[in-house]
Amino acid sequence: MEIVIVETQQQAGELVAEAVVALVERKANPVLGVATGSSPGAVYRELGRRVAQGRLSLKDTQAFMLDEYVGLPADHPQRYRTVIDREFVQPTDIDPANVHGPDGSAQEIEQACADYERAITNAGGIDLQILGIGTDGHIAFNEPGSSLGSRTRLKTLTRQTREDNARFFDDDVASVPKHCLTQGVATIMEARHVVLLAFGQSKVEAIHHMVEGSVSAMWPATALQFHPHVTVVLDESAASRL
Ligand code: GLP
Repeated sequence: MEIVIVETQQQAGELVAEAVVALVERKANPVLGVATGSSPGAVYRELGRRVAQGRLSLKDTQAFMLDEYVGLPADHPQRYRTVIDREFVQPTDIDPANVHGPDGSAQEIEQACADYERAITNAGGIDLQILGIGTDGHIAFNEPGSSLGSRTRLKTLTRQTREDNARFFDDDVASVPKHCLTQGVATIMEARHVVLLAFGQSKVEAIHHMVEGSVSAMWPATALQFHPHVTVVLDESAASRL
């Protein structure tokens, strides 16, 4: 695991954008994994800046989302597909048809999850996965107790995650969905390069466990200790217990 400590989120954005640029220059049909949450925001803004300046094009890039709430209407501003459209698709001008996510409104959930796994495989797998981490150590929506061998499936969100995410729902925990579809830990582990971003005091414990703790399903991000190519980008406060 390579740990990089930066002073500002903007620096983190530049660093990860550089990795995306290098991938796009190296590979004809690159595949990105995109995360929601506030942590990757600076990355998407920096990618958007470079696209606007004509220094980057994602026209041949495919992107796969990590997860999606179940039960939010298609036009809900916090549906993850809507968030990704707003924060990643619009600034980078990537073709929305090349951006894929698990179908949180599917009637046949198991089929939708299997279809999503197959779509990732058919695209050639994820080259670069942009990842955040929950305060309880979840990655995507793999909550504590998730099998480290898990694939895309339906999960129930913990109270803690719903409280953490209530800030996106007018601070009303009751409005945060209780279920989601999420790539599994094993799905994420197949990405060829994982770049995890974490900022601020609230992530200290999760980062401490992820980097220095025992590998355990109770801290799902610890699985990344087995991944051959992980870059962890932190600010001073998230790194303060390392
Ligand atoms: C949500 C997402 C995760 C994300 C986490 C942290 O639970 N499903 O993918 O990593 O939030 O979010 P933030 O970056 O806003 O702290």
